[in-house]
Amino acid sequence: MAYPYVSERETRVISRGFGDPMQRVLDIYVQRGGYGALRKALGLSPGEVIEEVKRSGLRGRGGAGFPTGLKWSFMPKESRREHYLLCNADESEPGTFKDRELMRWDPHQLIEGCLIAAHAIRSSHVYIYCRGEFFEANQILARALEDAYAGGFAGDDIMGSGRSIDVTVVQGAGAYICGEETGLMSSLEGKRGLPRVKPPFPAAVGAFGAPSTINNVETLAAVPHIVSNGGDWYRQWGTERSPGTKLFCVSGHVNRPGNYELPLGFPLQELIDDVCGGIPGGKALKAVIPGGSSVPLIDAADTRACALDYEGCLEVGTMLGCASVIVMDESADVVKQVRRMAEFYAHESCGQCTPCREGAAWTVRILRRIEAGRGTMEDIDTLMEITQGMVGTTICVLSDSVAAPVQSSIEKFRDEYLSLIRPEHRVGAA
Ligand SMILES: Cc1cc2nc3c(=O)[nH]c(=O)nc-3n(C[C@H](O)[C@H](O)[C@H](O)COP(=O)(O)O)c2cc1C
Ligand code: SF4
Repeated sequence: MAYPYVSERETRVISRGFGDPMQRVLDIYVQRGGYGALRKALGLSPGEVIEEVKRSGLRGRGGAGFPTGLKWSFMPKESRREHYLLCNADESEPGTFKDRELMRWDPHQLIEGCLIAAHAIRSSHVYIYCRGEFFEANQILARALEDAYAGGFAGDDIMGSGRSIDVTVVQGAGAYICGEETGLMSSLEGKRGLPRVKPPFPAAVGAFGAPSTINNVETLAAVPHIVSNGGDWYRQWGTERSPGTKLFCVSGHVNRPGNYELPLGFPLQELIDDVCGGIPGGKALKAVIPGGSSVPLIDAADTRACALDYEGCLEVGTMLGCASVIVMDESADVVKQVRRMAEFYAHESCGQCTPCREGAAWTVRILRRIEAGRGTMEDIDTLMEITQGMVGTTICVLSDSVAAPVQSSIEKFRDEYLSLIRPEHRVGAA
């Protein structure tokens, strides 16, 4: 099978269908045990499904790592009003390409996970909000959904259970901010994708003003396996606080970039050297961003010490985020890379909050000045000061995402900034 690369170090649970087009065919999916977990879940009460997911310790794979079972338990226990399950398939974080693959290769796994989650939160309508630019994934999902309806696995009276759940695939509006959970809800409602102040949290007031739960594609893809095999089975991988397997999207300076499913806690250095075949040309490692472009960069020493789980990343001063590992070798220009990330966030800022709107724009301007050789020592201090004011002060954390790469790169790679500042500009601050 020719999925771009596979490694014998992998534990393929949710990615077992990658590279196999037959996995998309409903009959084959069912022959392989597909929709068995849904049948089992529909025979359980919503509370029992939630308990099993809680037992597994599954944490949200969209970035924050919030415990999934706990999130589901926040939903009202009555269903006098409509409840919504929202599947966040907007995947736009630079360096991230795992949800796209889950949808392209195994659409029924996701649909089954959505239906089980909907049952658990007493919802009868699921929206899968899929990034608009994912043309192929959108088409594959839509086709799979048609087949699922025709086969009696979605819609009215699912598998004769008396339970009816509809699923709608919605094409995203093409903005990164529509992946932020409340921005997604605004967009789904046909408005501009503007994030909303929390509280109220989505479980109280979500999409269309109704109680809603939002989960990432990868989170929901793990649910059928947990329901089929039990929460304790899922805990055989990973660590006590970060159980299970995780997809790591690796890009940048490695010989075999791609998606790899590994137990949480896997050593970052081994991911680069062993799973991904090392750095091309035997060059030295300079920096790694382990969790997508919005988490802090780490250097080679931290990389050697980093275990890829939620706690292990925090120990070396970064975050697991959505586990999109961007590798930079010794030839990488850190200031240029950080400037490009800042430009992305400045472009994607929705503009509601002053620290984010103005801070991102100023950050880009100063980084461009430094890169062009017109920076001063004071600029480095100003960058730190501006970005400090962008953390924890805004409606959503896009603003913090600008600060993370800027601050960490100044802390870890200060010499790269200094080398761009001409000697006559080096007097003064810093
Ligand atoms: C600016 C921004 C963009 C985001 N984009 C995505 C995204 O594309 N996909 C995603 O699943 N979560 C994204 N998130 C996280 C979601 O807000 C939310 O936490 C997540 O969908 C919850 O699902 P989980 O609990 O299964 O992780 C984003 C957050 C922010 C602040
Ligand atoms: S932090 Fe930025 S992206 Fe988020 S709501 Fe405020 S202005 Fe918009």
